[in-house]
Amino acid sequence: MRTTAIGIAFGATLAVAGCSAPAPQPTVETTAPAPAPAAPSYKPVVSLNDLMVNVVDSHSHEIWDAEDKGPVTKADWERLEHAAVVLATSGGLTAVSGNGPNDQRWTGQADWVKHSEALSTAGLATIQAVRGQDVAALRKAGDALVLTCIDCHREYKLEVPKVWSDHEKVH
Ligand code: HEC
Repeated sequence: MRTTAIGIAFGATLAVAGCSAPAPQPTVETTAPAPAPAAPSYKPVVSLNDLMVNVVDSHSHEIWDAEDKGPVTKADWERLEHAAVVLATSGGLTAVSGNGPNDQRWTGQADWVKHSEALSTAGLATIQAVRGQDVAALRKAGDALVLTCIDCHREYKLEVPKVWSDHEKVH
């Protein structure tokens, strides 16, 4: 009985002390933050045109072709997922452009990064549609994708392939 009472009192004292005592500071928080490592510099190894033809355009066509046919097999969806991931990633690459003779002058233009981000955003929507195996969402994502090409090309390339404007009209 007596032991129990002492035990409770002792426990209560500890609990109060525990609440009021400042928490010990981990030493790591008291030291100055380590300097951030220098951002790796990106050195383009292909031209923007190469990137457009072999990465952006080819994978976009896989998405647009699938909209018309409708992917059916597991292998179709897997191929589309590959294309969608490439497209979502490609905006980061177009943002820094390539090593063609005139490529680097684009990266400094006000809207260049905005257009590149739009490409990545459309790519992300495509990934979502593909992972959900949702054909209606895939069509919508494909329409959003073609708009990102048209917007940037109207500003920087000044020619919009006819196949895109047709696609824009159809959907
Ligand atoms: C951030 C701007 C930008 C976006 C977004 C963009 N392009 Fe381009 N694209 C360009 C520029 C600039 C060139 C011209 C490069 C050159 O002439 O060296 C080009 C060139 C091309 C070319 C090769 C030239 C031609 O007309 O045949 C293709 C194909 C192409 N783009 C397809 C696409 C497709 C498809 C999309 C959308 C999925 C797209 N581009 C999105 C800026 C963009």
